[in-house]
Amino acid sequence: MEFQKVIESRRSVRKYDPAKKVDEATVKVIIDAAVLAPSWKNFQSARYYVIRSEESLTKFKQACLPPFNANSSADAPVLIITAFVKNSSGFDPSGEPVNELGNGWGLYDLGLHNGILILKAKDMGLDTLVMGIRDADKIREMLSIGDDEMIVSVIALGYGTQEPKMPKRKAAEEIAKFF
Ligand SMILES: Cc1cc2nc3c(=O)[nH]c(=O)nc-3n(C[C@H](O)[C@H](O)[C@H](O)COP(=O)(O)O)c2cc1C
Repeated sequence: MEFQKVIESRRSVRKYDPAKKVDEATVKVIIDAAVLAPSWKNFQSARYYVIRSEESLTKFKQACLPPFNANSSADAPVLIITAFVKNSSGFDPSGEPVNELGNGWGLYDLGLHNGILILKAKDMGLDTLVMGIRDADKIREMLSIGDDEMIVSVIALGYGTQEPKMPKRKAAEEIAKFF
């Protein structure tokens, strides 16, 4: 798909086709694309936890998502939990933050990865929903994620059955100043 079309047609999709599954190889292709993102000193501190089994999907949605997000991702065949290794991006070899943003740089890197992830999915005909409202403590417990990682978003992945309209976007002149 033409790049401009990919970025314009990607939408947050909150209804998925339960009959269309997504295999592990497809998820790997999408994650391999995400890792092509730039990152602080090429640290690649993003981490992904992929849930595909029916049993784990059901358990995860019940325990780790609020009802409205569980509902929006009800029939999504894949959930990707996104995290990053703390005190890596933005930190020098002695473990000191290089500047005031500290672990903000790990979040920045993960956001770059995830931006590519959702666009690559769209390019492959798949839809996504980024969910920031989730229970990080329960996710950590269920997936045995260590304290060295910060849990960030949950991304639903699957074949959408709706085509939402694009919510209004700001124009460049509203968000950018040129000097
Ligand atoms: C960091 C982040 C967190 C979000 N969290 C949620 C969420 O918890 N539930 C939800 O339904 N949508 C969530 N969204 C989706 C946004 O509402 C959506 O991206 C926005 O309204 C623009 O719509 P579009 O993605 O279709 O362009 C989130 C998006 C981002 C980037």
